Amino acid sequence: MSDSLNPPAERRPAPGHDSPHTSGVSVRRTRGKGEPRFPDGPKADPAGSHFERRIRSFQPRRSRVTAGQADALQRLWPKWGFDIDGRGHLDLVDFFGNDNPVVLEIGFGMGEATALMAAADPATNILAVDVHTPGQGNLLNLADQQGLSNVRVGNGDAIILLREMLAPDSLDGLRVYFPDPWPKKRHHKRRLIQPAFLTLAASRLKPGAVLHCATDWEPYAEQMLEVLTAHPDFENSQADGGFAPRPDFRPLTRFEGQGLDKGHVVNDLLFRRVPHADRPAAQPS
Ligand SMILES: C[S@@+](CC[C@H](N)C(=O)[O-])C[C@H]1O[C@@H](n2cnc3c(N)ncnc32)[C@H](O)[C@@H]1O
Repeated sequence: MSDSLNPPAERRPAPGHDSPHTSGVSVRRTRGKGEPRFPDGPKADPAGSHFERRIRSFQPRRSRVTAGQADALQRLWPKWGFDIDGRGHLDLVDFFGNDNPVVLEIGFGMGEATALMAAADPATNILAVDVHTPGQGNLLNLADQQGLSNVRVGNGDAIILLREMLAPDSLDGLRVYFPDPWPKKRHHKRRLIQPAFLTLAASRLKPGAVLHCATDWEPYAEQMLEVLTAHPDFENSQADGGFAPRPDFRPLTRFEGQGLDKGHVVNDLLFRRVPHADRPAAQPS
């Protein structure tokens, strides 16, 4: 994955996208033949990353969207959703309507845990991204039903979001809960937590911000611990240099529940972004 996160020489643009997020009112109408499923909703492959020669951490899949999820996508995407199209910086203060801390969650799945965390901590904004359309609809529905104004839903590859749409030092935290474990050896290169990803993520995290990972796949947990411990931009929050107890704020996730049912052991990792070595320390005012 080492050179795979760099911008490609050629990337075909996604058609019809001018801004990181759209605004306006969604219009309900019957879909004609050949029309996109969600005219105002998430786009398939918004950044055209399909055309990048880059190993991705996810497998594009077609999944059934329920009527409730489709309804949420139609109604709420223009307000709370954004396509990760790689075109321009996302203005987080403008997008959330306040300057509260922003935590990025990569791979929220169906979003139940995300909604619980957003409800428990309304003063923290959650930028939740995934490529999974039913999950996007589900999380929008949960946010709507529970009146959660601190959740925004991104559609697309988190690598492109980090690389091209988020400013340096813009994130107060990063959560990666139960990333796809890619257990087969020939697929290990697809795992998200790798040195190049950590370098990119560190560049978008504020000094002191915490990267929180959790996995129920023990070989992946060991790999995470190894690469995070070796990475110069991160330091373990645990004095013994090992895994962390699950913090109270992290609810059980759907994928975690499935792992526990199979007898898997869950490990959490909490690593802080270290201060920039090449910048002078902030002076007390
Ligand atoms: C195994 S699921 C875990 C979902 C959820 N966190 C849970 O614990 O139930 C991993 C999720 O990460 C998403 N994902 C993987 N790579 C991603 C990427 N580069 N950008 C955005 N989402 C990604 C997948 O689509 C999938 O929904």
